[in-house]
Amino acid sequence: MEMNDAMSSTEPTEAQIAVHWKEEQYYKPSPEFVKQANLNDPSVNERFAEKNFPKCFEEYADMLTWYERWHTVLDTSDPPFWKWFVGGKLNASYNCVDRHLAQYRDKAAIIFVPEPEKEPAVSLTYQELFWRVNEFAALLKHFCGLKAGDRVTIHMPMVAELPITMLACARLGVIHSVVFGGFSGEACGLRAADSGSRVLIYMDGYYRGGKMIDHKFSADIAVATAEKEGQKIDKVLVWRRYAGKASAVTPMVKGRDFYVDEVLKDYRGTFVEPVPMDAEAPLFLMYTSGTTGKPKGCQHRTGGYLAYVTGTSKYIEDIHPTDTYWCMADIGWITGHSYIVYGPLANAATSVIYEGVPNFPDAGRPWRIAERLGVNIFHTSPTAIRMLRKVGPDEPAKYNYHFKHMTTVGEPIEPEVWKWYYDVVGKGKAVIVDTWWQTENGGFLCSTKPGIDPMKPGSAGVGMPGIYPIIYDEEGKEVPRGSGRAGNICIRNPWPGIFQTIWGDRERFVRQYYSKYNRDPNSKDWHDWPYFAADGAVLAADGYFRILGRVDDVINVAGHRLGTKELESACLTVPEVAEAAVVPVADEIKGRVPEIYIALKPGQTANRQTVDTVVTTIETMIGKIARPSKVHIVPDMPKTRSGKIMRRVLAAISNTMDTGDITTLANPDVVEQIRITVQGTEKRETKEGPEDLKHFGKEE
Ligand code: WTA
Repeated sequence: MEMNDAMSSTEPTEAQIAVHWKEEQYYKPSPEFVKQANLNDPSVNERFAEKNFPKCFEEYADMLTWYERWHTVLDTSDPPFWKWFVGGKLNASYNCVDRHLAQYRDKAAIIFVPEPEKEPAVSLTYQELFWRVNEFAALLKHFCGLKAGDRVTIHMPMVAELPITMLACARLGVIHSVVFGGFSGEACGLRAADSGSRVLIYMDGYYRGGKMIDHKFSADIAVATAEKEGQKIDKVLVWRRYAGKASAVTPMVKGRDFYVDEVLKDYRGTFVEPVPMDAEAPLFLMYTSGTTGKPKGCQHRTGGYLAYVTGTSKYIEDIHPTDTYWCMADIGWITGHSYIVYGPLANAATSVIYEGVPNFPDAGRPWRIAERLGVNIFHTSPTAIRMLRKVGPDEPAKYNYHFKHMTTVGEPIEPEVWKWYYDVVGKGKAVIVDTWWQTENGGFLCSTKPGIDPMKPGSAGVGMPGIYPIIYDEEGKEVPRGSGRAGNICIRNPWPGIFQTIWGDRERFVRQYYSKYNRDPNSKDWHDWPYFAADGAVLAADGYFRILGRVDDVINVAGHRLGTKELESACLTVPEVAEAAVVPVADEIKGRVPEIYIALKPGQTANRQTVDTVVTTIETMIGKIARPSKVHIVPDMPKTRSGKIMRRVLAAISNTMDTGDITTLANPDVVEQIRITVQGTEKRETKEGPEDLKHFGKEE
């Protein structure tokens, strides 16, 4: 989830994450909550039991409006490329907008809250959203010549025009690829090239931490980067933060860049018929970091995805059309796609979009927004909760808002932080769902069902309806519940929200997510294809999962996934750098932060300038969110005899943990030298680190 500059200025101190959380007591939802909940009938467990799989998921698909009904719920003929609701036809834009007009035309669909507090919030009714989506779809179709199956890359901040753009694409069957606004132009250009987009959609500027950011600047870099990769961009559409007035100083390129508000004049009141799409037609791509240097485009399908986010928004987020729902994530991440745009709007909710930084101008801002708009469902990340708790622990009590429901997502939440969220933010009245899932998954995989299951601080709850999680050890043996042992959490079965493939890389899709626990590559039986999530987890005796963090070389920084290999490749583009290694370090606010180790080429001497170059290179190639907390220049990397960098040793030093056995290294002496560089000459007492840090780099 979104982390920002104002937040990151909080000085990180020693991490206080307990290694072994003790079993926590249960918290029960209030009778008032249960009474009004969309899902309060425990028969859901029976309805979604394995004997009713996969048919059980028709319950979600039936929440949508289809042009044609599917003939097959789940097609497993080409494992593990599962197909859902085959034969069905629908349109996502129609389901999120048009179908609500009869009943909810005058209700707010989106409320945009600008960061400057003097600018009033802007409400778009479903009727207004309908026209804005249609007009922009007309522009995409007629002005850009886009049609179903084409890809478009969108690099925009948190403004109402972002969901309008996405829904306009979906109306035409155009596959959108939204790149998080905080990523650099270069990162955007690489993704645009990978997806084969010839149109980029931008906004000229936006407010962040009190400053107007010139975002158009990044468009020119994105175009140049894409072209270097062989992908020509013929149009850049630029929304203006203030129509008719430029907010960026970066000039427009004639014949390539167009202000949307100017071109839109030609499409006023133009209706565009939604294109009936196959359930299996891709709806969007979302790039995420993985274990290699190159980000991968997770390809999500129209029917299964929309059904899954609609069902889970209704049952787990407990969204009713009468609710005012605010998810503070960024739409540039999967949480925003599923639980700001598609899920809430398919349920005719009012979805709040906030432009800026949560603690701008002060830590009371979120609670003022909630009070003013009557938000009753609130959704955010542990990083945001930790930060708001640190800078304004008493703020929530000053405001008169009433949440019935709160969500946490993206990282493990410490029980202490959970309790502050519950007691202070929720005022002891709101239920909390701790939802565990991933970009690849479309929607929630584990959570409590808020009107049915008791909550347990620090636990992500049970498998969602129709999701059958399991923990395997390295040999593929099940780790039983209540054993206290950690293992790899997997999902035994397919579900409608799972992504279809990695864009353009079927082989990597199979290798990364299925090969680890596949029992027979020729099997057409889904039971032989457990999905490997690359997270460590423990299963308590009561069936609740506690997620420990990544088991691969992805670092979860403030809920953002960063590939260590991506950061390392960026470092290696600095001419004086010979070797680079990135390790996660525990941080009180952001969960984990990246630290970088650099070894220089012969003849180079360590200096401040190299450190600065490494930092700015990462910021330009990836984005400010990837900025390392520290860069250490070391005489040599600890290496195995075969020359592999032992990242596990570096991670141990950075986290003041025991470095373990280093006698087998080719250069054991360097370890103490590095320790002194990082920790100083005085020997520090090592501590037992959290589970993910203990395992980091073990496979190397
Ligand atoms: C982590 C975000 C603990 C996990 C929706 C996962 C969590 C990665 C939780 C995916 C949670 C997500 N408790 N850890 N409730 N939710 N994670 O793709 O390590 O940005 O693999 O999707 O975040 O991050 P992604």
